Amino acid sequence: MKLLEGKTAIVTGAARGIGEAIALKFAAHGANIAFTYVSDSSRDKATALEAKLVSLGVKAKAYQSNAADFSACETFVNDVLKEFGTLDICVNNAGISKDNLLLRMTPEQWDEVMQVNLKSVFNMTKQVIRPMMKAKAGSIINMSSVIGEMGNAGQSSYAASKAGIIGFTKSIAKELGSRNIRSNAIAPGFVETDMTSYLKDGEGAEKYKADIPLGRFASGEDIANVALFLASDLGNYVTGQVISACGGLNI
Ligand code: NAI
Repeated sequence: MKLLEGKTAIVTGAARGIGEAIALKFAAHGANIAFTYVSDSSRDKATALEAKLVSLGVKAKAYQSNAADFSACETFVNDVLKEFGTLDICVNNAGISKDNLLLRMTPEQWDEVMQVNLKSVFNMTKQVIRPMMKAKAGSIINMSSVIGEMGNAGQSSYAASKAGIIGFTKSIAKELGSRNIRSNAIAPGFVETDMTSYLKDGEGAEKYKADIPLGRFASGEDIANVALFLASDLGNYVTGQVISACGGLNI
Protein backbone atom coordinates (compact mmCIF):
# COMPACT_ATOMS: atom_id res chain seq x y z
CA MET A 1 0.00 0.00 0.00
CA LYS A 2 1.33 3.43 -0.94
CA LEU A 3 1.12 5.87 1.95
CA LEU A 4 1.75 9.23 0.24
CA GLU A 5 -0.13 8.92 -3.06
CA GLY A 6 -0.69 12.35 -4.65
CA LYS A 7 1.06 14.30 -1.87
CA THR A 8 3.80 16.83 -2.57
CA ALA A 9 6.87 16.83 -0.34
CA ILE A 10 9.81 19.18 0.00
CA VAL A 11 13.10 17.72 1.25
CA THR A 12 16.04 20.09 1.82
CA GLY A 13 19.61 18.94 1.28
CA ALA A 14 18.58 15.75 -0.48
CA ALA A 15 21.37 15.18 -3.01
CA ARG A 16 22.87 12.54 -0.71
CA GLY A 17 22.63 10.88 2.68
CA ILE A 18 19.50 10.87 4.80
CA GLY A 19 17.74 13.42 2.59
CA GLU A 20 18.24 11.28 -0.49
CA ALA A 21 16.93 8.20 1.36
CA ILE A 22 13.82 10.14 2.42
CA ALA A 23 13.18 11.45 -1.11
CA LEU A 24 13.43 7.91 -2.50
CA LYS A 25 11.22 6.43 0.23
CA PHE A 26 8.54 9.12 -0.21
CA ALA A 27 8.59 8.72 -4.00
CA ALA A 28 8.25 4.93 -3.66
CA HIS A 29 5.10 5.72 -1.67
CA GLY A 30 3.70 7.93 -4.42
CA ALA A 31 4.74 11.43 -3.32
CA ASN A 32 5.87 14.09 -5.77
CA ILE A 33 9.23 15.46 -4.64
CA ALA A 34 10.77 18.94 -4.75
CA PHE A 35 14.22 18.81 -3.23
CA THR A 36 17.16 21.15 -2.76
CA TYR A 37 20.91 20.95 -3.03
CA VAL A 38 23.22 23.83 -2.26
CA SER A 39 26.58 23.58 -3.98
CA ASP A 40 27.53 23.37 -7.67
CA SER A 41 29.50 20.22 -6.83
CA SER A 42 26.22 18.46 -5.86
CA ARG A 43 24.49 19.28 -9.16
CA ASP A 44 25.32 15.96 -10.88
CA LYS A 45 24.12 13.96 -7.89
CA ALA A 46 20.94 16.05 -7.72
CA THR A 47 20.25 15.55 -11.43
CA ALA A 48 20.78 11.80 -11.05
CA LEU A 49 18.41 11.67 -8.07
CA GLU A 50 15.78 13.67 -9.95
CA ALA A 51 15.90 11.09 -12.78
CA LYS A 52 15.71 8.20 -10.31
CA LEU A 53 12.65 9.71 -8.62
CA VAL A 54 10.91 10.31 -11.94
CA SER A 55 11.60 6.68 -12.87
CA LEU A 56 9.54 5.71 -9.81
CA GLY A 57 6.54 7.30 -11.53
CA VAL A 58 6.26 10.59 -9.62
CA LYS A 59 6.94 14.21 -10.46
CA ALA A 60 10.32 15.36 -9.13
CA LYS A 61 12.48 18.44 -9.44
CA ALA A 62 15.85 19.47 -8.01
CA TYR A 63 16.33 23.12 -6.98
CA GLN A 64 19.65 24.74 -6.13
CA SER A 65 18.77 26.70 -3.00
CA ASN A 66 20.53 27.62 0.23
CA ALA A 67 18.34 26.70 3.21
CA ALA A 68 20.27 29.14 5.41
CA ASP A 69 19.16 32.09 3.24
CA PHE A 70 15.68 33.43 4.07
CA SER A 71 14.89 34.99 0.71
CA ALA A 72 16.23 31.95 -1.18
CA CYS A 73 13.73 29.81 0.79
CA GLU A 74 10.92 32.21 -0.09
CA THR A 75 11.79 31.97 -3.80
CA PHE A 76 12.16 28.18 -3.60
CA VAL A 77 8.77 27.59 -1.96
CA ASN A 78 7.03 29.99 -4.39
CA ASP A 79 8.64 28.13 -7.30
CA VAL A 80 7.51 24.78 -5.88
CA LEU A 81 3.94 26.01 -5.51
CA LYS A 82 3.94 27.26 -9.11
CA GLU A 83 5.31 23.96 -10.38
CA PHE A 84 3.53 21.45 -8.12
CA GLY A 85 0.37 23.36 -7.13
CA THR A 86 0.21 22.02 -3.56
CA LEU A 87 2.50 21.35 -0.65
CA ASP A 88 1.70 18.74 1.98
CA ILE A 89 5.00 17.76 3.63
CA CYS A 90 8.21 19.61 4.42
CA VAL A 91 11.30 17.78 5.64
CA ASN A 92 13.91 20.19 6.98
CA ASN A 93 16.90 17.91 6.57
CA ALA A 94 19.79 20.17 5.46
CA GLY A 95 22.53 20.28 8.04
CA ILE A 96 26.25 20.53 8.68
CA SER A 97 28.67 19.99 11.52
CA LYS A 98 31.81 22.02 12.30
CA ASP A 99 33.07 20.10 15.28
CA ASN A 100 35.59 21.68 17.60
CA LEU A 101 36.18 21.94 21.33
CA LEU A 102 34.73 25.18 22.69
CA LEU A 103 38.22 26.38 23.56
CA ARG A 104 39.08 26.35 19.86
CA MET A 105 35.71 27.14 18.31
CA THR A 106 35.53 30.44 16.44
CA PRO A 107 32.44 32.68 16.37
CA GLU A 108 32.33 32.11 12.59
CA GLN A 109 32.15 28.33 13.04
CA TRP A 110 29.38 28.75 15.63
CA ASP A 111 27.38 31.11 13.40
CA GLU A 112 27.65 28.90 10.34
CA VAL A 113 26.26 25.87 12.15
CA MET A 114 23.40 27.93 13.59
CA GLN A 115 22.53 29.44 10.22
CA VAL A 116 22.51 26.16 8.32
CA ASN A 117 21.03 23.87 10.97
CA LEU A 118 18.63 26.08 12.93
CA LYS A 119 17.84 29.24 10.99
CA SER A 120 17.12 27.09 7.92
CA VAL A 121 14.28 25.43 9.82
CA PHE A 122 12.79 28.85 10.64
CA ASN A 123 13.33 30.00 7.03
CA MET A 124 11.56 27.03 5.49
CA THR A 125 8.79 26.67 8.06
CA LYS A 126 7.85 30.36 7.67
CA GLN A 127 7.28 29.72 3.97
CA VAL A 128 5.53 26.35 4.01
CA ILE A 129 2.94 27.13 6.66
CA ARG A 130 1.12 29.60 4.35
CA PRO A 131 -0.04 26.98 1.83
CA MET A 132 -0.50 24.41 4.62
CA MET A 133 -2.80 26.78 6.54
CA LYS A 134 -4.84 27.31 3.38
CA ALA A 135 -5.10 23.55 2.86
CA LYS A 136 -5.82 23.00 6.58
CA ALA A 137 -3.28 20.18 6.56
CA GLY A 138 0.45 19.65 6.64
CA SER A 139 3.31 17.69 8.14
CA ILE A 140 6.60 19.37 9.01
CA ILE A 141 9.49 17.08 9.90
CA ASN A 142 12.68 18.55 11.31
CA MET A 143 15.95 16.65 11.44
CA SER A 144 17.33 17.00 14.94
CA SER A 145 19.88 14.58 16.42
CA VAL A 146 20.46 12.44 19.46
CA ILE A 147 23.34 14.85 20.11
CA GLY A 148 20.75 17.63 20.61
CA GLU A 149 19.29 15.59 23.47
CA MET A 150 22.51 14.22 25.00
CA GLY A 151 25.25 16.74 24.11
CA ASN A 152 28.70 15.64 23.00
CA ALA A 153 32.20 16.93 23.66
CA GLY A 154 33.45 18.79 20.60
CA GLN A 155 29.92 19.30 19.26
CA SER A 156 28.55 22.19 21.33
CA SER A 157 27.40 24.20 18.30
CA TYR A 158 25.88 21.17 16.58
CA ALA A 159 24.17 20.04 19.81
CA ALA A 160 22.82 23.55 20.49
CA SER A 161 21.44 23.85 16.95
CA LYS A 162 19.77 20.45 17.16
CA ALA A 163 18.34 21.16 20.64
CA GLY A 164 17.04 24.46 19.26
CA ILE A 165 15.22 22.55 16.55
CA ILE A 166 13.39 20.56 19.24
CA GLY A 167 12.14 23.70 21.00
CA PHE A 168 11.08 25.19 17.67
CA THR A 169 9.30 21.98 16.62
CA LYS A 170 7.26 21.81 19.82
CA SER A 171 6.34 25.51 19.65
CA ILE A 172 5.10 25.24 16.06
CA ALA A 173 3.08 22.16 17.02
CA LYS A 174 1.32 24.30 19.65
CA GLU A 175 0.85 27.27 17.30
CA LEU A 176 -0.51 25.31 14.37
CA GLY A 177 -2.15 22.16 15.76
CA SER A 178 -5.57 23.82 15.50
CA ARG A 179 -4.92 24.22 11.74
CA ASN A 180 -4.20 20.49 11.41
CA ILE A 181 -0.52 21.16 10.77
CA ARG A 182 1.73 18.68 12.55
CA SER A 183 5.32 19.46 13.51
CA ASN A 184 7.67 16.71 14.66
CA ALA A 185 11.39 16.08 14.93
CA ILE A 186 13.47 13.00 14.30
CA ALA A 187 16.56 12.51 16.44
CA PRO A 188 18.79 10.02 14.63
CA GLY A 189 21.81 8.44 16.24
CA PHE A 190 24.81 7.65 14.07
CA VAL A 191 23.75 7.19 10.47
CA GLU A 192 26.13 5.91 7.79
CA THR A 193 26.44 8.96 5.52
CA ASP A 194 29.20 11.31 4.36
CA MET A 195 28.70 13.32 7.56
CA THR A 196 29.85 10.37 9.68
CA SER A 197 32.35 8.87 7.23
CA TYR A 198 35.08 9.48 9.83
CA LEU A 199 33.39 6.81 12.00
CA LYS A 200 33.14 4.15 9.36
CA ASP A 201 36.00 1.84 10.14
CA GLY A 202 38.49 0.96 12.79
CA GLU A 203 38.57 1.16 16.53
CA GLY A 204 36.50 4.35 16.73
CA ALA A 205 33.57 2.69 14.99
CA GLU A 206 33.64 -0.32 17.32
CA LYS A 207 33.78 1.94 20.40
CA TYR A 208 30.70 3.88 19.25
CA LYS A 209 28.82 0.70 18.30
CA ALA A 210 29.47 -0.77 21.76
CA ASP A 211 27.30 2.03 23.22
CA ILE A 212 24.40 1.32 20.87
CA PRO A 213 22.02 -1.39 22.16
CA LEU A 214 21.19 -2.44 18.57
CA GLY A 215 24.94 -2.74 17.96
CA ARG A 216 25.06 -1.01 14.57
CA PHE A 217 24.86 2.39 12.91
CA ALA A 218 21.64 3.34 11.11
CA SER A 219 21.15 3.34 7.37
CA GLY A 220 19.51 6.29 5.65
CA GLU A 221 16.50 4.04 5.10
CA ASP A 222 16.11 3.44 8.85
CA ILE A 223 15.58 7.17 9.24
CA ALA A 224 13.46 7.49 6.08
CA ASN A 225 11.01 4.92 7.52
CA VAL A 226 10.43 7.15 10.56
CA ALA A 227 9.95 10.16 8.27
CA LEU A 228 7.42 8.16 6.24
CA PHE A 229 5.40 7.43 9.37
CA LEU A 230 5.37 11.10 10.37
CA ALA A 231 4.58 12.31 6.85
CA SER A 232 1.72 9.87 6.25
CA ASP A 233 -1.72 9.51 7.79
CA LEU A 234 -0.26 6.82 10.07
CA GLY A 235 1.13 9.71 12.10
CA ASN A 236 -2.12 11.72 12.06
CA TYR A 237 -2.36 12.09 15.84
CA VAL A 238 1.34 12.69 16.43
CA THR A 239 2.60 16.25 16.83
CA GLY A 240 5.19 18.08 18.89
CA GLN A 241 7.20 14.88 19.33
CA VAL A 242 10.81 13.94 18.98
CA ILE A 243 11.15 10.42 17.63
CA SER A 244 14.54 9.01 18.55
CA ALA A 245 15.89 6.71 15.87
CA CYS A 246 19.20 5.99 17.51
CA GLY A 247 19.29 2.24 18.09
CA GLY A 248 18.77 2.91 21.80
CA LEU A 249 21.90 5.06 22.18
CA ASN A 250 20.01 7.52 24.42
CA ILE A 251 18.77 5.04 27.05
P1 NAI B 1 25.19 14.79 4.65
O1 NAI B 1 26.31 15.72 4.92
O2 NAI B 1 25.44 13.53 3.93
O3 NAI B 1 24.01 15.55 3.91
C1 NAI B 1 23.61 16.84 4.27
C2 NAI B 1 23.03 17.49 3.04
O4 NAI B 1 22.65 18.83 3.37
C3 NAI B 1 24.07 17.58 1.92
O5 NAI B 1 23.49 17.18 0.71
C4 NAI B 1 24.42 19.06 1.89
O6 NAI B 1 24.81 19.52 0.62
C5 NAI B 1 23.09 19.67 2.33
N1 NAI B 1 23.26 21.04 2.82
C6 NAI B 1 24.24 21.51 3.62
N2 NAI B 1 24.07 22.82 3.79
C7 NAI B 1 22.97 23.18 3.09
C8 NAI B 1 22.28 24.40 2.88
N3 NAI B 1 22.71 25.54 3.42
N4 NAI B 1 21.17 24.40 2.09
C9 NAI B 1 20.73 23.27 1.52
N5 NAI B 1 21.35 22.08 1.68
C10 NAI B 1 22.44 22.04 2.46
O7 NAI B 1 24.54 14.53 6.07
P2 NAI B 1 23.41 13.50 6.55
O8 NAI B 1 24.06 12.56 7.45
O9 NAI B 1 22.62 13.00 5.41
O10 NAI B 1 22.54 14.49 7.45
C11 NAI B 1 21.23 14.94 7.12
C12 NAI B 1 20.63 15.57 8.36
O11 NAI B 1 20.57 14.60 9.40
C13 NAI B 1 21.47 16.73 8.91
O12 NAI B 1 20.62 17.72 9.40
C14 NAI B 1 22.24 16.08 10.04
O13 NAI B 1 22.62 17.01 11.01
C15 NAI B 1 21.21 15.09 10.56
N6 NAI B 1 21.76 13.99 11.33
C16 NAI B 1 22.73 13.16 10.78
C17 NAI B 1 23.24 12.13 11.54
C18 NAI B 1 24.28 11.20 11.02
O14 NAI B 1 24.79 10.39 11.81
N7 NAI B 1 24.62 11.20 9.74
C19 NAI B 1 22.80 11.92 12.93
C20 NAI B 1 21.80 12.83 13.39
C21 NAI B 1 21.31 13.83 12.60
